[in-house]
Amino acid sequence: MRNKLTVVGAGNVGANCAVWAAKKELGDIVLVDVVEGVPQGKGLDLMQAGPVESYGVSIAGANDYAPTANSDVVIITAGFPRKPGMSRDDLLLANYEVVKAATEQAIAVSPNCVIIVVTNPLDAMAQVAYMVSKFPKNRVIGMAGVLDSARFRTFIAMELNVSVENVTAVVMGGHGDTMVPLVRLSSVSGIPLTELIPADRLNAIVDRTRNGGAEIVKFLKTGSAYYAPAASAVEMAESILRDKKKVLPCAAYLEGEYGIDGLYVGVPCKLGAGGIEKIYEIKLTDEETAALHKSSASVKELVEVIKKKMAA
Ligand code: NAI
Ligand code: 2OP
Repeated sequence: MRNKLTVVGAGNVGANCAVWAAKKELGDIVLVDVVEGVPQGKGLDLMQAGPVESYGVSIAGANDYAPTANSDVVIITAGFPRKPGMSRDDLLLANYEVVKAATEQAIAVSPNCVIIVVTNPLDAMAQVAYMVSKFPKNRVIGMAGVLDSARFRTFIAMELNVSVENVTAVVMGGHGDTMVPLVRLSSVSGIPLTELIPADRLNAIVDRTRNGGAEIVKFLKTGSAYYAPAASAVEMAESILRDKKKVLPCAAYLEGEYGIDGLYVGVPCKLGAGGIEKIYEIKLTDEETAALHKSSASVKELVEVIKKKMAA
C-alpha cells in the first residue's frame, strides 16, 4: 500500500511541500486549506505536472480532513507568515489557534501519524501540536534545524566556492535570532571551518544564518521563504516514510537532554519510521551550552504564554 502524506496549509510552504513530495513520489498527497478551491486547484494542477515530471502519485485538495484519513505523516504549514517588521513571536497567538485546530482535526482521522510542524514560531508551535495531540513525543517534530543548517551550509559553500554537498553544518536551538550555528562541529569534507575561513568572516556567516529568514522576508516584502523550508520539511518526511534514519537537526521535546526539560528545542535527531528514533546528546563547550540555554529560554517564554492561554 502507498504511503499517505497530508499537508495542512496550501499556501507557499504547503504547496511547495506537495511539489517536492510528489517529485520524490513519497506517497499519495492531500492538501488541506481553509480557502475554498485553493487546495483543490493546486492539487489538480500538480497532478497534471505528473506526466511531464514522471511521477504517478495522487494529489488531492480539500477543505476538510475526511480525505486525509490514515495519513502516515501530516505536515502542518497552516498559519500566517511573517511580514516585514514582524517577528516570528508576533505570530504566536494567531498561529496557536490554527495549529491547535489543525492538530485536533488531523489526528481525529489519522491517529497513528507522525506530525511535522512548520508553522511559526516553530518550537512553540511544535509544543502546541504535542500538547494538543497527546501523542508520544517521538511522533511530533518541528522543522527548523534542517532549514537553518541548509542556510549555514549554503553560505559556507558560497564563501569558499566549494560544492555545498561537501559542507556539513550543525545548527541547534530555537528557530529564531538566538539559534546556535555550531562552527566547531561544521566542516568541509571533514576539514574544520576554522582552518578554512577567518574568524571575522565566520562570524558574519553565523550572523547571516541567524538572520536567514529575515533576509528573505526583506526581499519578498509580502511573505517569507518557502522553497527551502518546504524542501526541508519534505526531507524529514522522506526519512520517516522511507525509514532512512537520517540524522537531522529537528525541534524535539527534551526531557533533561542538554539540561533542558519539558521544551521543544532544535537538537540532532535520527528520523525513521518511528519518527524521532534517537536524540543525540553531543558534548558542548560551556559557551555553546550557554548559547543553547539562552535560545531555549526564549522558546520557554512563548510556551509559557501558550500554557496560560490553554489553562484559561
Ligand atoms: P502562506 O500564507 O502562503 O500559507 C499559509 C496557508 O495556511 C494559507 O493558504 C492559509 O489559507 C492557510 N490556513 C490558515 N489557517 C488555516 C487553517 N486553520 N487550516 C488550514 N489552513 C489554514 O504562508 P507560508 O509562507 O506557507 O508559511 C506558513 C507558515 O510556515 C507560517 O507560519 C510561516 O511563518 C511558517 N514558516 C516556518 C518555517 C520554519 O522554518 N519552521 C519556514 C518558513 C515558513
Ligand atoms: C524562515 O526562517 C520565516 O521562519 C521562516 O524563513
